[in-house]
Amino acid sequence: MTTSRGRHYTGVQQVVAAANSDLTLRRTCNAICRAIAKALDMSGCRILHLNPKRDYLTTVGAFGLNDLYLRKGPLDARKSLPEVLEGNIAVVTHAPTDQRVQHPEQAREQNVIFIAAAPIRSANTTIGELRIYSRRSRHLTELEKDFLRSAASISAVVLERAELAQFKERVNSQAAKSGGALLPAQITSSSLKPTEFAHASEAEFARLLDFYKIDWLYEPRSFPLAYNGSGVSQMFTPDFYLPELEMYVELTTMKQELITAKNRKVRKLREQYPDVNIRLITRKDFSKLLEKYGYGPLGEAKVQGVGQILYSQAQIQRRVRTLARRISKDYEGERIVLIGALKGVLCFLSDLMQRISIPLKVDFMDVSHYGGEGEVVKITRDLDSSIAGQHVIMVEDIIDTGMTVNYLLTHLASHKPASLRVCTLLDRRARRLANVQLDYVGFEIPDEFVVGYGLDYQGEYRNLPFIGILKPE
Ligand code: IMP
Ligand code: MG
Repeated sequence: MTTSRGRHYTGVQQVVAAANSDLTLRRTCNAICRAIAKALDMSGCRILHLNPKRDYLTTVGAFGLNDLYLRKGPLDARKSLPEVLEGNIAVVTHAPTDQRVQHPEQAREQNVIFIAAAPIRSANTTIGELRIYSRRSRHLTELEKDFLRSAASISAVVLERAELAQFKERVNSQAAKSGGALLPAQITSSSLKPTEFAHASEAEFARLLDFYKIDWLYEPRSFPLAYNGSGVSQMFTPDFYLPELEMYVELTTMKQELITAKNRKVRKLREQYPDVNIRLITRKDFSKLLEKYGYGPLGEAKVQGVGQILYSQAQIQRRVRTLARRISKDYEGERIVLIGALKGVLCFLSDLMQRISIPLKVDFMDVSHYGGEGEVVKITRDLDSSIAGQHVIMVEDIIDTGMTVNYLLTHLASHKPASLRVCTLLDRRARRLANVQLDYVGFEIPDEFVVGYGLDYQGEYRNLPFIGILKPE
């Protein structure tokens, strides 16, 4: 008992000393993990940070894990010990067979038997997780749980300090850009992206990713590539991980000798970690990459005029899937007719219908507006087939004043469908004139003119795979 108490006391001392050091975040967390593992006689420990959207956990520091569980990069937060996110300590006494473990085969490979996780909490919200691992079967005593809770509290302070540092950095750079005047709307971010970039090109790459609303993590993981005895003699830490694309990115410059060395490392990494997706790219390759992942051919040429991206392609696709699922469920056992109002609905309708699982037909209408602001609407293309007695969903790209959809609904209702509902990707309530009931809404948007994903400005921009706000001239 006394020896155990002594070990925990030393552990607390070391954790506190590490937390109060002026090391980088990564190293601070590594040191904390080491102290925790030693104090609790564990084989490994890691500190994970939960991203603000609360969908994945990234390792910010670890000890004794080598490659343990890290193979796939960040963890899906929903699949990962949910009780911890709710604020409780979770204990897994037999990892290889426990359903809650995300990669049980790796637990088996690494001989991990025991896992315990404590929430890292700040102001009653879980901001991360502290995990400990053991290769032997064991329990966690109340004393050990107390220790783990204390270590998690200190880790919370460390993570918060890092968030604050990053926040300050952002505020300052914003202030510098806007000549000292700070806009309160910008004071919202609390994400924990390590911002100590090694190169200016990395910072630029991160800005580009931010512009495209592509989530990124900077150097989230190191891959041991070569060993000498029990130690690691060569490591490779790719610059970025893009969770939505499940891809690591290593940026490269134009210096040929560096490219060759990096190529060799990338090749080694691919050999040893075949399920890791990594790309070695130059600035020029990047626009090609965006193209490949659907962020638009020609990259920047096409986004000329777009001041800000409102919804990325991935965000749109996620939302469309949800809407399609909801429609499929609501109309289960029925057949439906989707009616699209040309031409803006093009992309949305096409994606939506492919994700609906019940039988459906598609038809189109086209209207033209007279007198500017949609005061007079005239049908220029009517339906091909009768909709009498059928379940109809009117699909729209955007409901603005509501005049168009209102007119179309009146027209469709006169053909006596069995039911009639409205599904719109975007809803801009600020300018609503007609009172229409919207049954399925993708996103409610602010009072800004938007383009992309089918929506146009003077006929152009429909081919952008994302939705952006047009820059005022
Ligand atoms: P409403 O009759 O005012 O609701 O207008 C809806 C129609 O105007 C939509 O179907 C679009 O074709 C067009 N529209 C409204 N707002 C925008 C926008 O921000 N970008 C592109 N088209 C828009
Ligand atoms: Mg339209």
